[in-house]
Amino acid sequence: MIDIYNRKIDYIRISVTDRCNLRCIYCMPEDGIKSVNHSEILSYEEIIHLCEAFAKIGISKIKITGGEPLVRSDLAYLIEKIKNINGINNVTLTTNGILLEEQIDSLVKAGLDAVNVSIDALDESTYKYITRIGNVSSVIRGINKALEYKNLTVKINCVPIDGTNGKQILDITKMAKNKKLNVRFIELMPIGLGKKMNGLGEDEIKEIIEEEFGELTPFNKSLGNGPSHYYSLEDFEGKIGFISAVSHKFCDKCNRVRLTSRGFLKTCLQYDKGINLKKMISDGENQEELIDAIKTTIYNKPRKNRFLEINSHEDFEKHIMSEIGG
Ligand code: 5AD
Ligand code: SF4
Repeated sequence: MIDIYNRKIDYIRISVTDRCNLRCIYCMPEDGIKSVNHSEILSYEEIIHLCEAFAKIGISKIKITGGEPLVRSDLAYLIEKIKNINGINNVTLTTNGILLEEQIDSLVKAGLDAVNVSIDALDESTYKYITRIGNVSSVIRGINKALEYKNLTVKINCVPIDGTNGKQILDITKMAKNKKLNVRFIELMPIGLGKKMNGLGEDEIKEIIEEEFGELTPFNKSLGNGPSHYYSLEDFEGKIGFISAVSHKFCDKCNRVRLTSRGFLKTCLQYDKGINLKKMISDGENQEELIDAIKTTIYNKPRKNRFLEINSHEDFEKHIMSEIGG
C-alpha cells in the first residue's frame, strides 16, 4: 500500500521473541532483559493471522527477527505457514547465527528465501568482547552450511563500533572475496544502548576498505528488500553494502514497518507510533477490523527519523533493539 508520503510499503519485519542467546554490548545489558511472559508474546497462530491481514494490504515480503529468532522453538513451522500465505512471496531471516548450523536444513525446507547473519568480528576474542558470550566458530560453521544451498541468499551484517571492532572490518570484508555472499556494514543507530557508544560512519569504513582492497565502485542495483546500497571490489565475488541510517538517511524511500514480539505494529524504528494488534485480537476484533486498523496506522507512518538532532533521542524510542528487532 501507499502511505501519506507516497512511499510503497510492502515489507514488514516481525520479531518473534525479545530473548537472545547473546548479549551484544550495543543491544543488551550484561544481565539480559526481564523476559516477557509467554502469554504476552504473539503466538504463532496470531502471527500467521496477522500475516494474512498484512498480505491483504499489499505486504509481500516478511523478515523474521528477534531478539534471536532461532531461540524460539520450531521456527521452521512458522516460516512454512507464512510462506504459504497468498501474496507473500519472500520470507527471510535475520539471525546471530549461533544456532544456524543445526537449523538451516529445516529452515530451507520450510521455504526460507534468504538469511542475514550478524557477525561483528571474526577474531574470537573481539567477538566474545562484543557478544559477551558467543563463540564465533559456531557462527562461521552456520554461514558455511547456509552457503551450501545455492538458492539461498546469504548476507553478513556487521556494526562497526569505534575502538572495538574497527580492525575487523578488513577481515569481514574479505568474506565476500571468494564466497557467494554480500557483506553489509550497518551504522550504529542511537537507539537503546547504542546511544551510549559511537559507531563508525560509512565514509570512515569505506576509507579503511579502499586503502586495502582498492576502489569501491558503486553497484547500481538493489540486492534485497532494504535500504542498503552496494559497491563492487575488483576480484571479489560478493558485493559490499552499507546501511547508513545516520549519515545517509533513506526515510524518503522507506518501504517497511515492524511488528514487535508483543504485537505492536511500529511504523518507524525511532518512534513509539503504531497500534497494539495483539490487544485487538484479544478483544475479538475480526479480520476486517484488523485490516482497517493496519491500513490507517501504516498510512500515517512518520516522515523521517531524527537521529542527528542533538538531544532529540530522549523523546523517542525507549525500547532496546532486541525488543524491536532491528
Ligand atoms: N544500530 C544499528 N544496528 C543495530 N543492531 C542492533 N542494534 C543496533 C543499533 N543500535 C543490528 C544487529 C543485527 C541487526 C538485526 O541489527 O547487529 O545485525
Ligand atoms: Fe542478540 Fe542481536 Fe542483540 Fe546481539 S544484537 S544481543 S545477537 S539481539
